[in-house]
Amino acid sequence: MAEEAVLGHLEHNQEISDSGVFSQEKGIDHDELVNIIKSLNGFGLVIAADIKREKWLLSDEAQSYVKYGSAEVLLFEAVPAEGTAKAKLQEIVKSKLPADLDDTTKSLIYDKGWAQAMKNKWVGLADSQVSRKVEHVEDRVKDLLIQIQNGEAVGAKDIDALKRRRLISLQIWKGYSVKKGPNYAPKRKKAATDLVRDHLQRDEWKDIEFKEYNFLAKGQPTEGGCLHPLYKVKQQIQMIFLQMGFEEMPTNNYVESSFWNFDALFQPQQHPARDSHDTFFLKVPSTTNSLPEEYVERVKTVHESGGYGSRGYGYDWKREEANKNLLRTHTTAVSTRMLYALAQGPFTPKRYYSIDRVFRNEAVDRTHLAEFHQIEGLICDRGLSLGHLRGVLEDFFSRIGMSKLKFKPAYNPYTEPSMEIFSYHEGLKKWVEIGNSGMFRPEMLRPMGLPEDVQVIAWGLSLERPTMILYGIDNIRDLFGHKVDLSLTKRNPICRLGLN
Ligand code: PHE
Repeated sequence: MAEEAVLGHLEHNQEISDSGVFSQEKGIDHDELVNIIKSLNGFGLVIAADIKREKWLLSDEAQSYVKYGSAEVLLFEAVPAEGTAKAKLQEIVKSKLPADLDDTTKSLIYDKGWAQAMKNKWVGLADSQVSRKVEHVEDRVKDLLIQIQNGEAVGAKDIDALKRRRLISLQIWKGYSVKKGPNYAPKRKKAATDLVRDHLQRDEWKDIEFKEYNFLAKGQPTEGGCLHPLYKVKQQIQMIFLQMGFEEMPTNNYVESSFWNFDALFQPQQHPARDSHDTFFLKVPSTTNSLPEEYVERVKTVHESGGYGSRGYGYDWKREEANKNLLRTHTTAVSTRMLYALAQGPFTPKRYYSIDRVFRNEAVDRTHLAEFHQIEGLICDRGLSLGHLRGVLEDFFSRIGMSKLKFKPAYNPYTEPSMEIFSYHEGLKKWVEIGNSGMFRPEMLRPMGLPEDVQVIAWGLSLERPTMILYGIDNIRDLFGHKVDLSLTKRNPICRLGLN
């Protein structure tokens, strides 16, 4: 409605010379009018020029003077012709003031009136008696205030006096004068965003204006979920395993018995890793209630006295130790269960992998948390050798983007031989340890019932290590746990392994 008024007016008139006057004439709120003028100006429909006017604004006190008369006149008129005791004057003034004024205002009017009337020498004080000094007074202050209120010109001296009494203050008023702009039209055309059927059917397509494309627009931020970097790397590694013909192992049990986590892996019961400093043991339920008994017997025997060409450890193997529940310290516990299950049927070669969480009772620092993810792969087949292990590791790691590998002899209770895996890091210009590997010992495999000519080659690494390298994260607490910055997770790029 304000827009129509402005554009309509300009159709027949040169200009709107003053938006303030225009808003009063048309009964439009000035602020609303200003918004419309700015918008029309922006689209070149009109050209607006600033108008600034200084306007005197009456204070609340001044407004009461306009209504009831100035304080000095009220005071003068309250003084009786015969005079009065100063002590009584305040009461007399107050009694003459309109009843709708509150007491504080009345006191204020009395104070100001007294000061001003004395200054004007309208009244005098002698021996505590107040008397009139002039016969008649005129309320110039009130008249001036009314003139100012009506926007009439008032002399500089008077303005100054009123200003000093804080009855008026200056306010800058802003408005516009408005003329037709280069894109003037009596009605604003709305630019179309798309060509639609109506435009064609009604033959409007020739005349309509289209909104220009904003190629710099960023688009709406998406509110959807996003994948954690660990998950992205995990998916990629999973792809590699699947492409290499591996099957996933079921790792959905964080709680494991010591038997499957340690004993079945020929890890002696006195081994330091089985200490509560390294392993989280469960309080409830503290022990497992089912283990395959015949297999347990064979494991006990191999620990105590060996077999299959081994001398064993020669100690008293305790069932209670094997029964203790814990949070699995490696996914090799799952590999062990899988191999045992495999051994229960007619033998078929297998390639298994898993990527899941493991727990170790470690001091937390920049590179260690008490839980992390382990990537594990194994191949179980007849006639496998260390050469096969090296070959498969070269293949696997080159697919991750690590094609320069070195191996270092190592020790695991359940593998022989064992090799630590190092990869040359192009960025760091040095060899970094990336994983551990080996061939499972006969002491582990034979008690399960796997045929004598079946070997298992296996390797393990953490998921965190490659993820931190790929995403340039140097503190593991920025990757996993309650200190992770979620917005970082949102902004992380996708992961493509082997291309870095
Ligand atoms: N379980 C080993 C670890 O926790 C990794 C590993 C897996 C080593 C398979 C050899 C063979 O580090």
